[in-house]
Amino acid sequence: MIRKLHASSRLSTVPASPIRKLVPFALAAKKRGVKVYHFNIGDPDVHTPAVMMEVLRRWKTNPIGYAHSQGEVPLLSALEHYYSGLGFDFIKSHDIQITTGGSEAISWALFATCNAGDEVIVFEPLYANYNSYATVHGITLVPILTTAANGFHLPPVRVIEKKITNKTKAILYCNPNNPTGTVYTRDEVAMLVRLAKKHSLFLLSDEVYREYTYDGRKQVSLLRYMNDIPRHAIMLDSLSKRYSVCGLRVGALVSKNTAIMEGVLRIGQGRLSAGLVDQAVASALTDVPKSYLTGIQKEFEKRRTILYEGLRKIPGVTIPKPEGAFYAIVGLPVADAEHFCQWLLTDFADHKETVMLAPAAGFYATPGCGKNEVRIAYVLSTESIKRCVKILSLALKKYEEVSVI
Ligand SMILES: Cc1ncc(COP(=O)(O)O)c(C=O)c1O
Repeated sequence: MIRKLHASSRLSTVPASPIRKLVPFALAAKKRGVKVYHFNIGDPDVHTPAVMMEVLRRWKTNPIGYAHSQGEVPLLSALEHYYSGLGFDFIKSHDIQITTGGSEAISWALFATCNAGDEVIVFEPLYANYNSYATVHGITLVPILTTAANGFHLPPVRVIEKKITNKTKAILYCNPNNPTGTVYTRDEVAMLVRLAKKHSLFLLSDEVYREYTYDGRKQVSLLRYMNDIPRHAIMLDSLSKRYSVCGLRVGALVSKNTAIMEGVLRIGQGRLSAGLVDQAVASALTDVPKSYLTGIQKEFEKRRTILYEGLRKIPGVTIPKPEGAFYAIVGLPVADAEHFCQWLLTDFADHKETVMLAPAAGFYATPGCGKNEVRIAYVLSTESIKRCVKILSLALKKYEEVSVI
């Protein structure tokens, strides 16, 4: 008898991305001649720095070989220099492992700190892909709800402590936050550091949006506490958003825990290397003028304000003022945001234009949460953001009419 061939049963437990789920409907809308504004995905529209493009243009090395498993020396030095510029001159090359994007850094950090069946505390709404990495590694995410009412800031320490069990191995947080746009205060980060110390937990800080902070805020990096909790602290980083190089796939895992660093290097050896060309281009970060990052910060602060001021004028729409990153969790006067998001693509257009949003339910680990919310990524020009706000306000009116019928 021939055995039936099945994919693993665990494969079907990996969730689909809530950001990409509605793509077929967007493609169909475009086929009908409708212009779709992409408010759903965080792929920055600003230009990659000229010095990085220049490295790409001048590339000569042939053949294009493997890179070092830990990462190319010039890139490690460039990052060492970058962290030193932030005031963390104690971060050295041997504390850094280059990864293919922040995505790989997060995945490896979870694998390196947890056994299958262990628990990791997260704050929801959360970066949806944390669900995927946890599922792949057989780790249970233990979500703690944050709410729009207090700008999605962290709950009191007792609420977090209640969720710590014998199986808890780590706290994973994102600062500035995707999807809420919240920038945690110094007190909040210090509270997490104290918790990690008190309960012997790893503290994993996803800092890919470090420079995107508004209204005079400054991000409080976990690097500040690296010497205080060297065995607990792991910082996860990426160049994707900082230099508008999402397609380069360059990230980093940074820690002073030697067992972790030796272990992730072995994982790195197993996957041979991150891209050689990607790392050569990324190494030019040292030559990117300071004005590039301050320019991006100013541009996105302007976009944030236009979005916030526009949306809060729409009846029934709620939006806490985003403090950083380029996302917002927006409450809508609809019962089922996923249905509304799909309807925007299948049944609505204003002058042959519509907008694509990400239903927020997929940004929660708790089933049933976020049903009337969407996540917006404001990575469009200010003119496009204004137009999206207009389309959304017209669409909500129309949706109410058709829902009543
Ligand atoms: C919070 C957060 N962490 C990590 C990543 C991973 O990005 P990349 O793999 O491009 O570095 C993203 C991408 O959107 C993100 O939003």
